Amino acid sequence: LITDIRLRRILDSRGNATVEADVLTESGGFGRAAAPSGASTGEFEAIELPPNEAIANAREHAVPRLVGEVHAGDQRAVDNTLRAADGTDDFSEIGANSAVAISMATAKAAADVLGAPLYQHLGGAFRGDNFPVPLGNVIGGGEHAADATDIQEFLSAPVGAPSVADAVFANAAVHQEIHDMLIERDTPAGKGDEGAWAPSIDDAEAFEILDEATSTVAEEVGFEIKFGLDVAAAEMYDEDEGGYVYSDQVRDTDEQVEYITELVEEWDLAYVEDPLDENDFEAFTDLTANVGDQTLICGDDLFVTNVSRLEKGIEMDSANSILIKPNQIGSLTDAFDAIELAANNTYDVIVSHRSGETEDTTIAHLAVATDADFIKTGAVGGERTAKLNELIRIADDAA
Ligand code: PGA
Ligand code: ZN
Repeated sequence: LITDIRLRRILDSRGNATVEADVLTESGGFGRAAAPSGASTGEFEAIELPPNEAIANAREHAVPRLVGEVHAGDQRAVDNTLRAADGTDDFSEIGANSAVAISMATAKAAADVLGAPLYQHLGGAFRGDNFPVPLGNVIGGGEHAADATDIQEFLSAPVGAPSVADAVFANAAVHQEIHDMLIERDTPAGKGDEGAWAPSIDDAEAFEILDEATSTVAEEVGFEIKFGLDVAAAEMYDEDEGGYVYSDQVRDTDEQVEYITELVEEWDLAYVEDPLDENDFEAFTDLTANVGDQTLICGDDLFVTNVSRLEKGIEMDSANSILIKPNQIGSLTDAFDAIELAANNTYDVIVSHRSGETEDTTIAHLAVATDADFIKTGAVGGERTAKLNELIRIADDAA
């Protein structure tokens, strides 16, 4: 039984406050987890409340229903209780930030009771033995950095790596190689919110740099490194402007579909996330029909880890992969249900961080537990390496 839940404000990587939860159980289990926070958040995400408010409301409504009432090992009961305590379908009463912190901390407490690592508790005995390929954000702009690229994230994708550690180091090497190239080109850059270089260059130049950097590192390490994008196109889309607003032009929806199709073909992209607006399932369907057999078309803001939005996407063939962010939906149970639905419909699964993060490593365990195809959690920077290093440890532990 859960015997205590403590909630507090801690810092996230942007210096904002976020919610951390501690969960204690009768048999001495302890779990701690913190909510991350997005900057390019989807319109249909569960609601993040100001941390003070989320904590006060969760203490009033959720904690009394959980403490002394629910077993930490019964994750579905814990998460159903959070939903019932909240009473809305978007966690707008207790906050998705309080909900997800409690949900994840409870899973960790249950794992602690069992003396098992979290990935083992969540994945169980019949877990697969694949490891997710880390996608490393190496150049970026959009909402994550001012005066940088239009496309939010340029991602290194070491698809040929023989091990997860090799893949993690390859992404870091690409990140370093890009730094050297930017200095050489006289365009030194600071970093965006996720640690990617945020140079004042246009997207065309970023493609060239990324292509060269991944080729150089691939040659050094001896395995294939492709690359991909998170366009975060919902942030660019402006109906009044007539479509997708880039620094140098506006593309209407047909032009955007055409542009992304060309990019996939020109650069042999392994991965394209949110290439179109979060409301435009139809345009997603057009793009997936064009290039879905040669790349991953992934819905982040499109699906927001939400089973009913994913059902719609599956029905319409709008994509072939889904980004999973537990805080978009508010609980581990909801994230698991979305992953299961995706996997049953041959969608690839990409477990993801947010631009605002903490040292919390839950998503590394979630990705391994669910046999996710990819994990997107940056390339460098403490709050990113916390997850990447945990992944290396898990691989070591599971070997
Ligand atoms: P966010 O961005 O965490 O700022 O929403 C990450 C993403 O769009 O994948
Ligand atoms: Zn995204």
